Amino acid sequence: MDSTLRNIVQKMPKAELHIHIEGSLEPELIFALAERNLVALNYASVDELRRAYAFTDLQSFLDIYYAGASVLLTEQDFFDMTWAYLQRAKADHVLHTEIFFDPQTHTTRGVAFSTVIDGIHRALREARARWGMSGALIMCFLRHLSEEDAFATLEQALPYRDKFIGVGLDSSERGNPPEKFARVFARCKELGLHLVAHAGEEGPPAYIETALDVLQVERIDHGVRCLEDAALTRRLARDKIPLTVCPLSNLKLRVIDKLSDHNLLQLLDAGLVATINSDDPAYFGGYMNDNFVQTFEALPLQRKHAQQLARNSFFASFLDASTKQKYLDEVDTFFQD
Ligand code: ADE
Ligand code: ZN
Repeated sequence: MDSTLRNIVQKMPKAELHIHIEGSLEPELIFALAERNLVALNYASVDELRRAYAFTDLQSFLDIYYAGASVLLTEQDFFDMTWAYLQRAKADHVLHTEIFFDPQTHTTRGVAFSTVIDGIHRALREARARWGMSGALIMCFLRHLSEEDAFATLEQALPYRDKFIGVGLDSSERGNPPEKFARVFARCKELGLHLVAHAGEEGPPAYIETALDVLQVERIDHGVRCLEDAALTRRLARDKIPLTVCPLSNLKLRVIDKLSDHNLLQLLDAGLVATINSDDPAYFGGYMNDNFVQTFEALPLQRKHAQQLARNSFFASFLDASTKQKYLDEVDTFFQD
């Protein structure tokens, strides 16, 4: 990629729509929090922990990701983790971010729901006050746990309804189809929450279809396997259902063998509202601009694709119409000269 295009993808205004905040926990911060909170880790050093990041599939990653999150205990811990992410996002010219959090990972360890959401939300408020960065929270249900557990989590979250805008579905995809959470999502829709779900990452295209038909989600997280089903691909394009694609995640979790095999360009060529996101940046080797630069280096993507991806990121966001338009205008102004 020439340096002009690299400069463009790095500096262009963008939104991030698929980031698990627990996946932004860098090994150095894991060790610092373990020391601060007197939590024992199974790894002797930062280097040893980093060496364990050799994933073979989604589950092999999730096992380490949940272990890493075990050092988070206080409101300040959740603030510090989120603040570190927001600083990196700002450096990558992310103007708006919609952040996933996994309350069940923490409440099952005895951490209060309020501790989790208050710490994360305080960091978002600080970023808005200091830099004008906008952000919102999406609460994910862990799909390997039961429907009952998800309902109990929703109940715990309701007193904090003003602090999150939607719900999502993550964790082990295979064997945990979207329809397992049909009733929870129906309730969330009644509550006026935005709905998204991970689907078609490792799981089959049928999971994308049921996420749309049964859960009635507005966006699909990952969704890269949609191209295996031509009718589904046409539907996603026609209905402008955004896909929050995470190229480095797909590489590290072996959804693809090499980045040059990624289908992002085919997704864009099929008219899909595809976006680039980091997923779990501390584990997959990069934040937003690492994902952009490496993907643009691996695929024959051009300036027009950069503009499309930047526009898609704001179009696909849950911002109100006038703020969305303001950001879209900012993208177009950036690409004018
Ligand atoms: N939780 C964190 N990252 C995830 C991913 N890529 N897929 C499913 N669940 C996740
Ligand atoms: Zn994800």
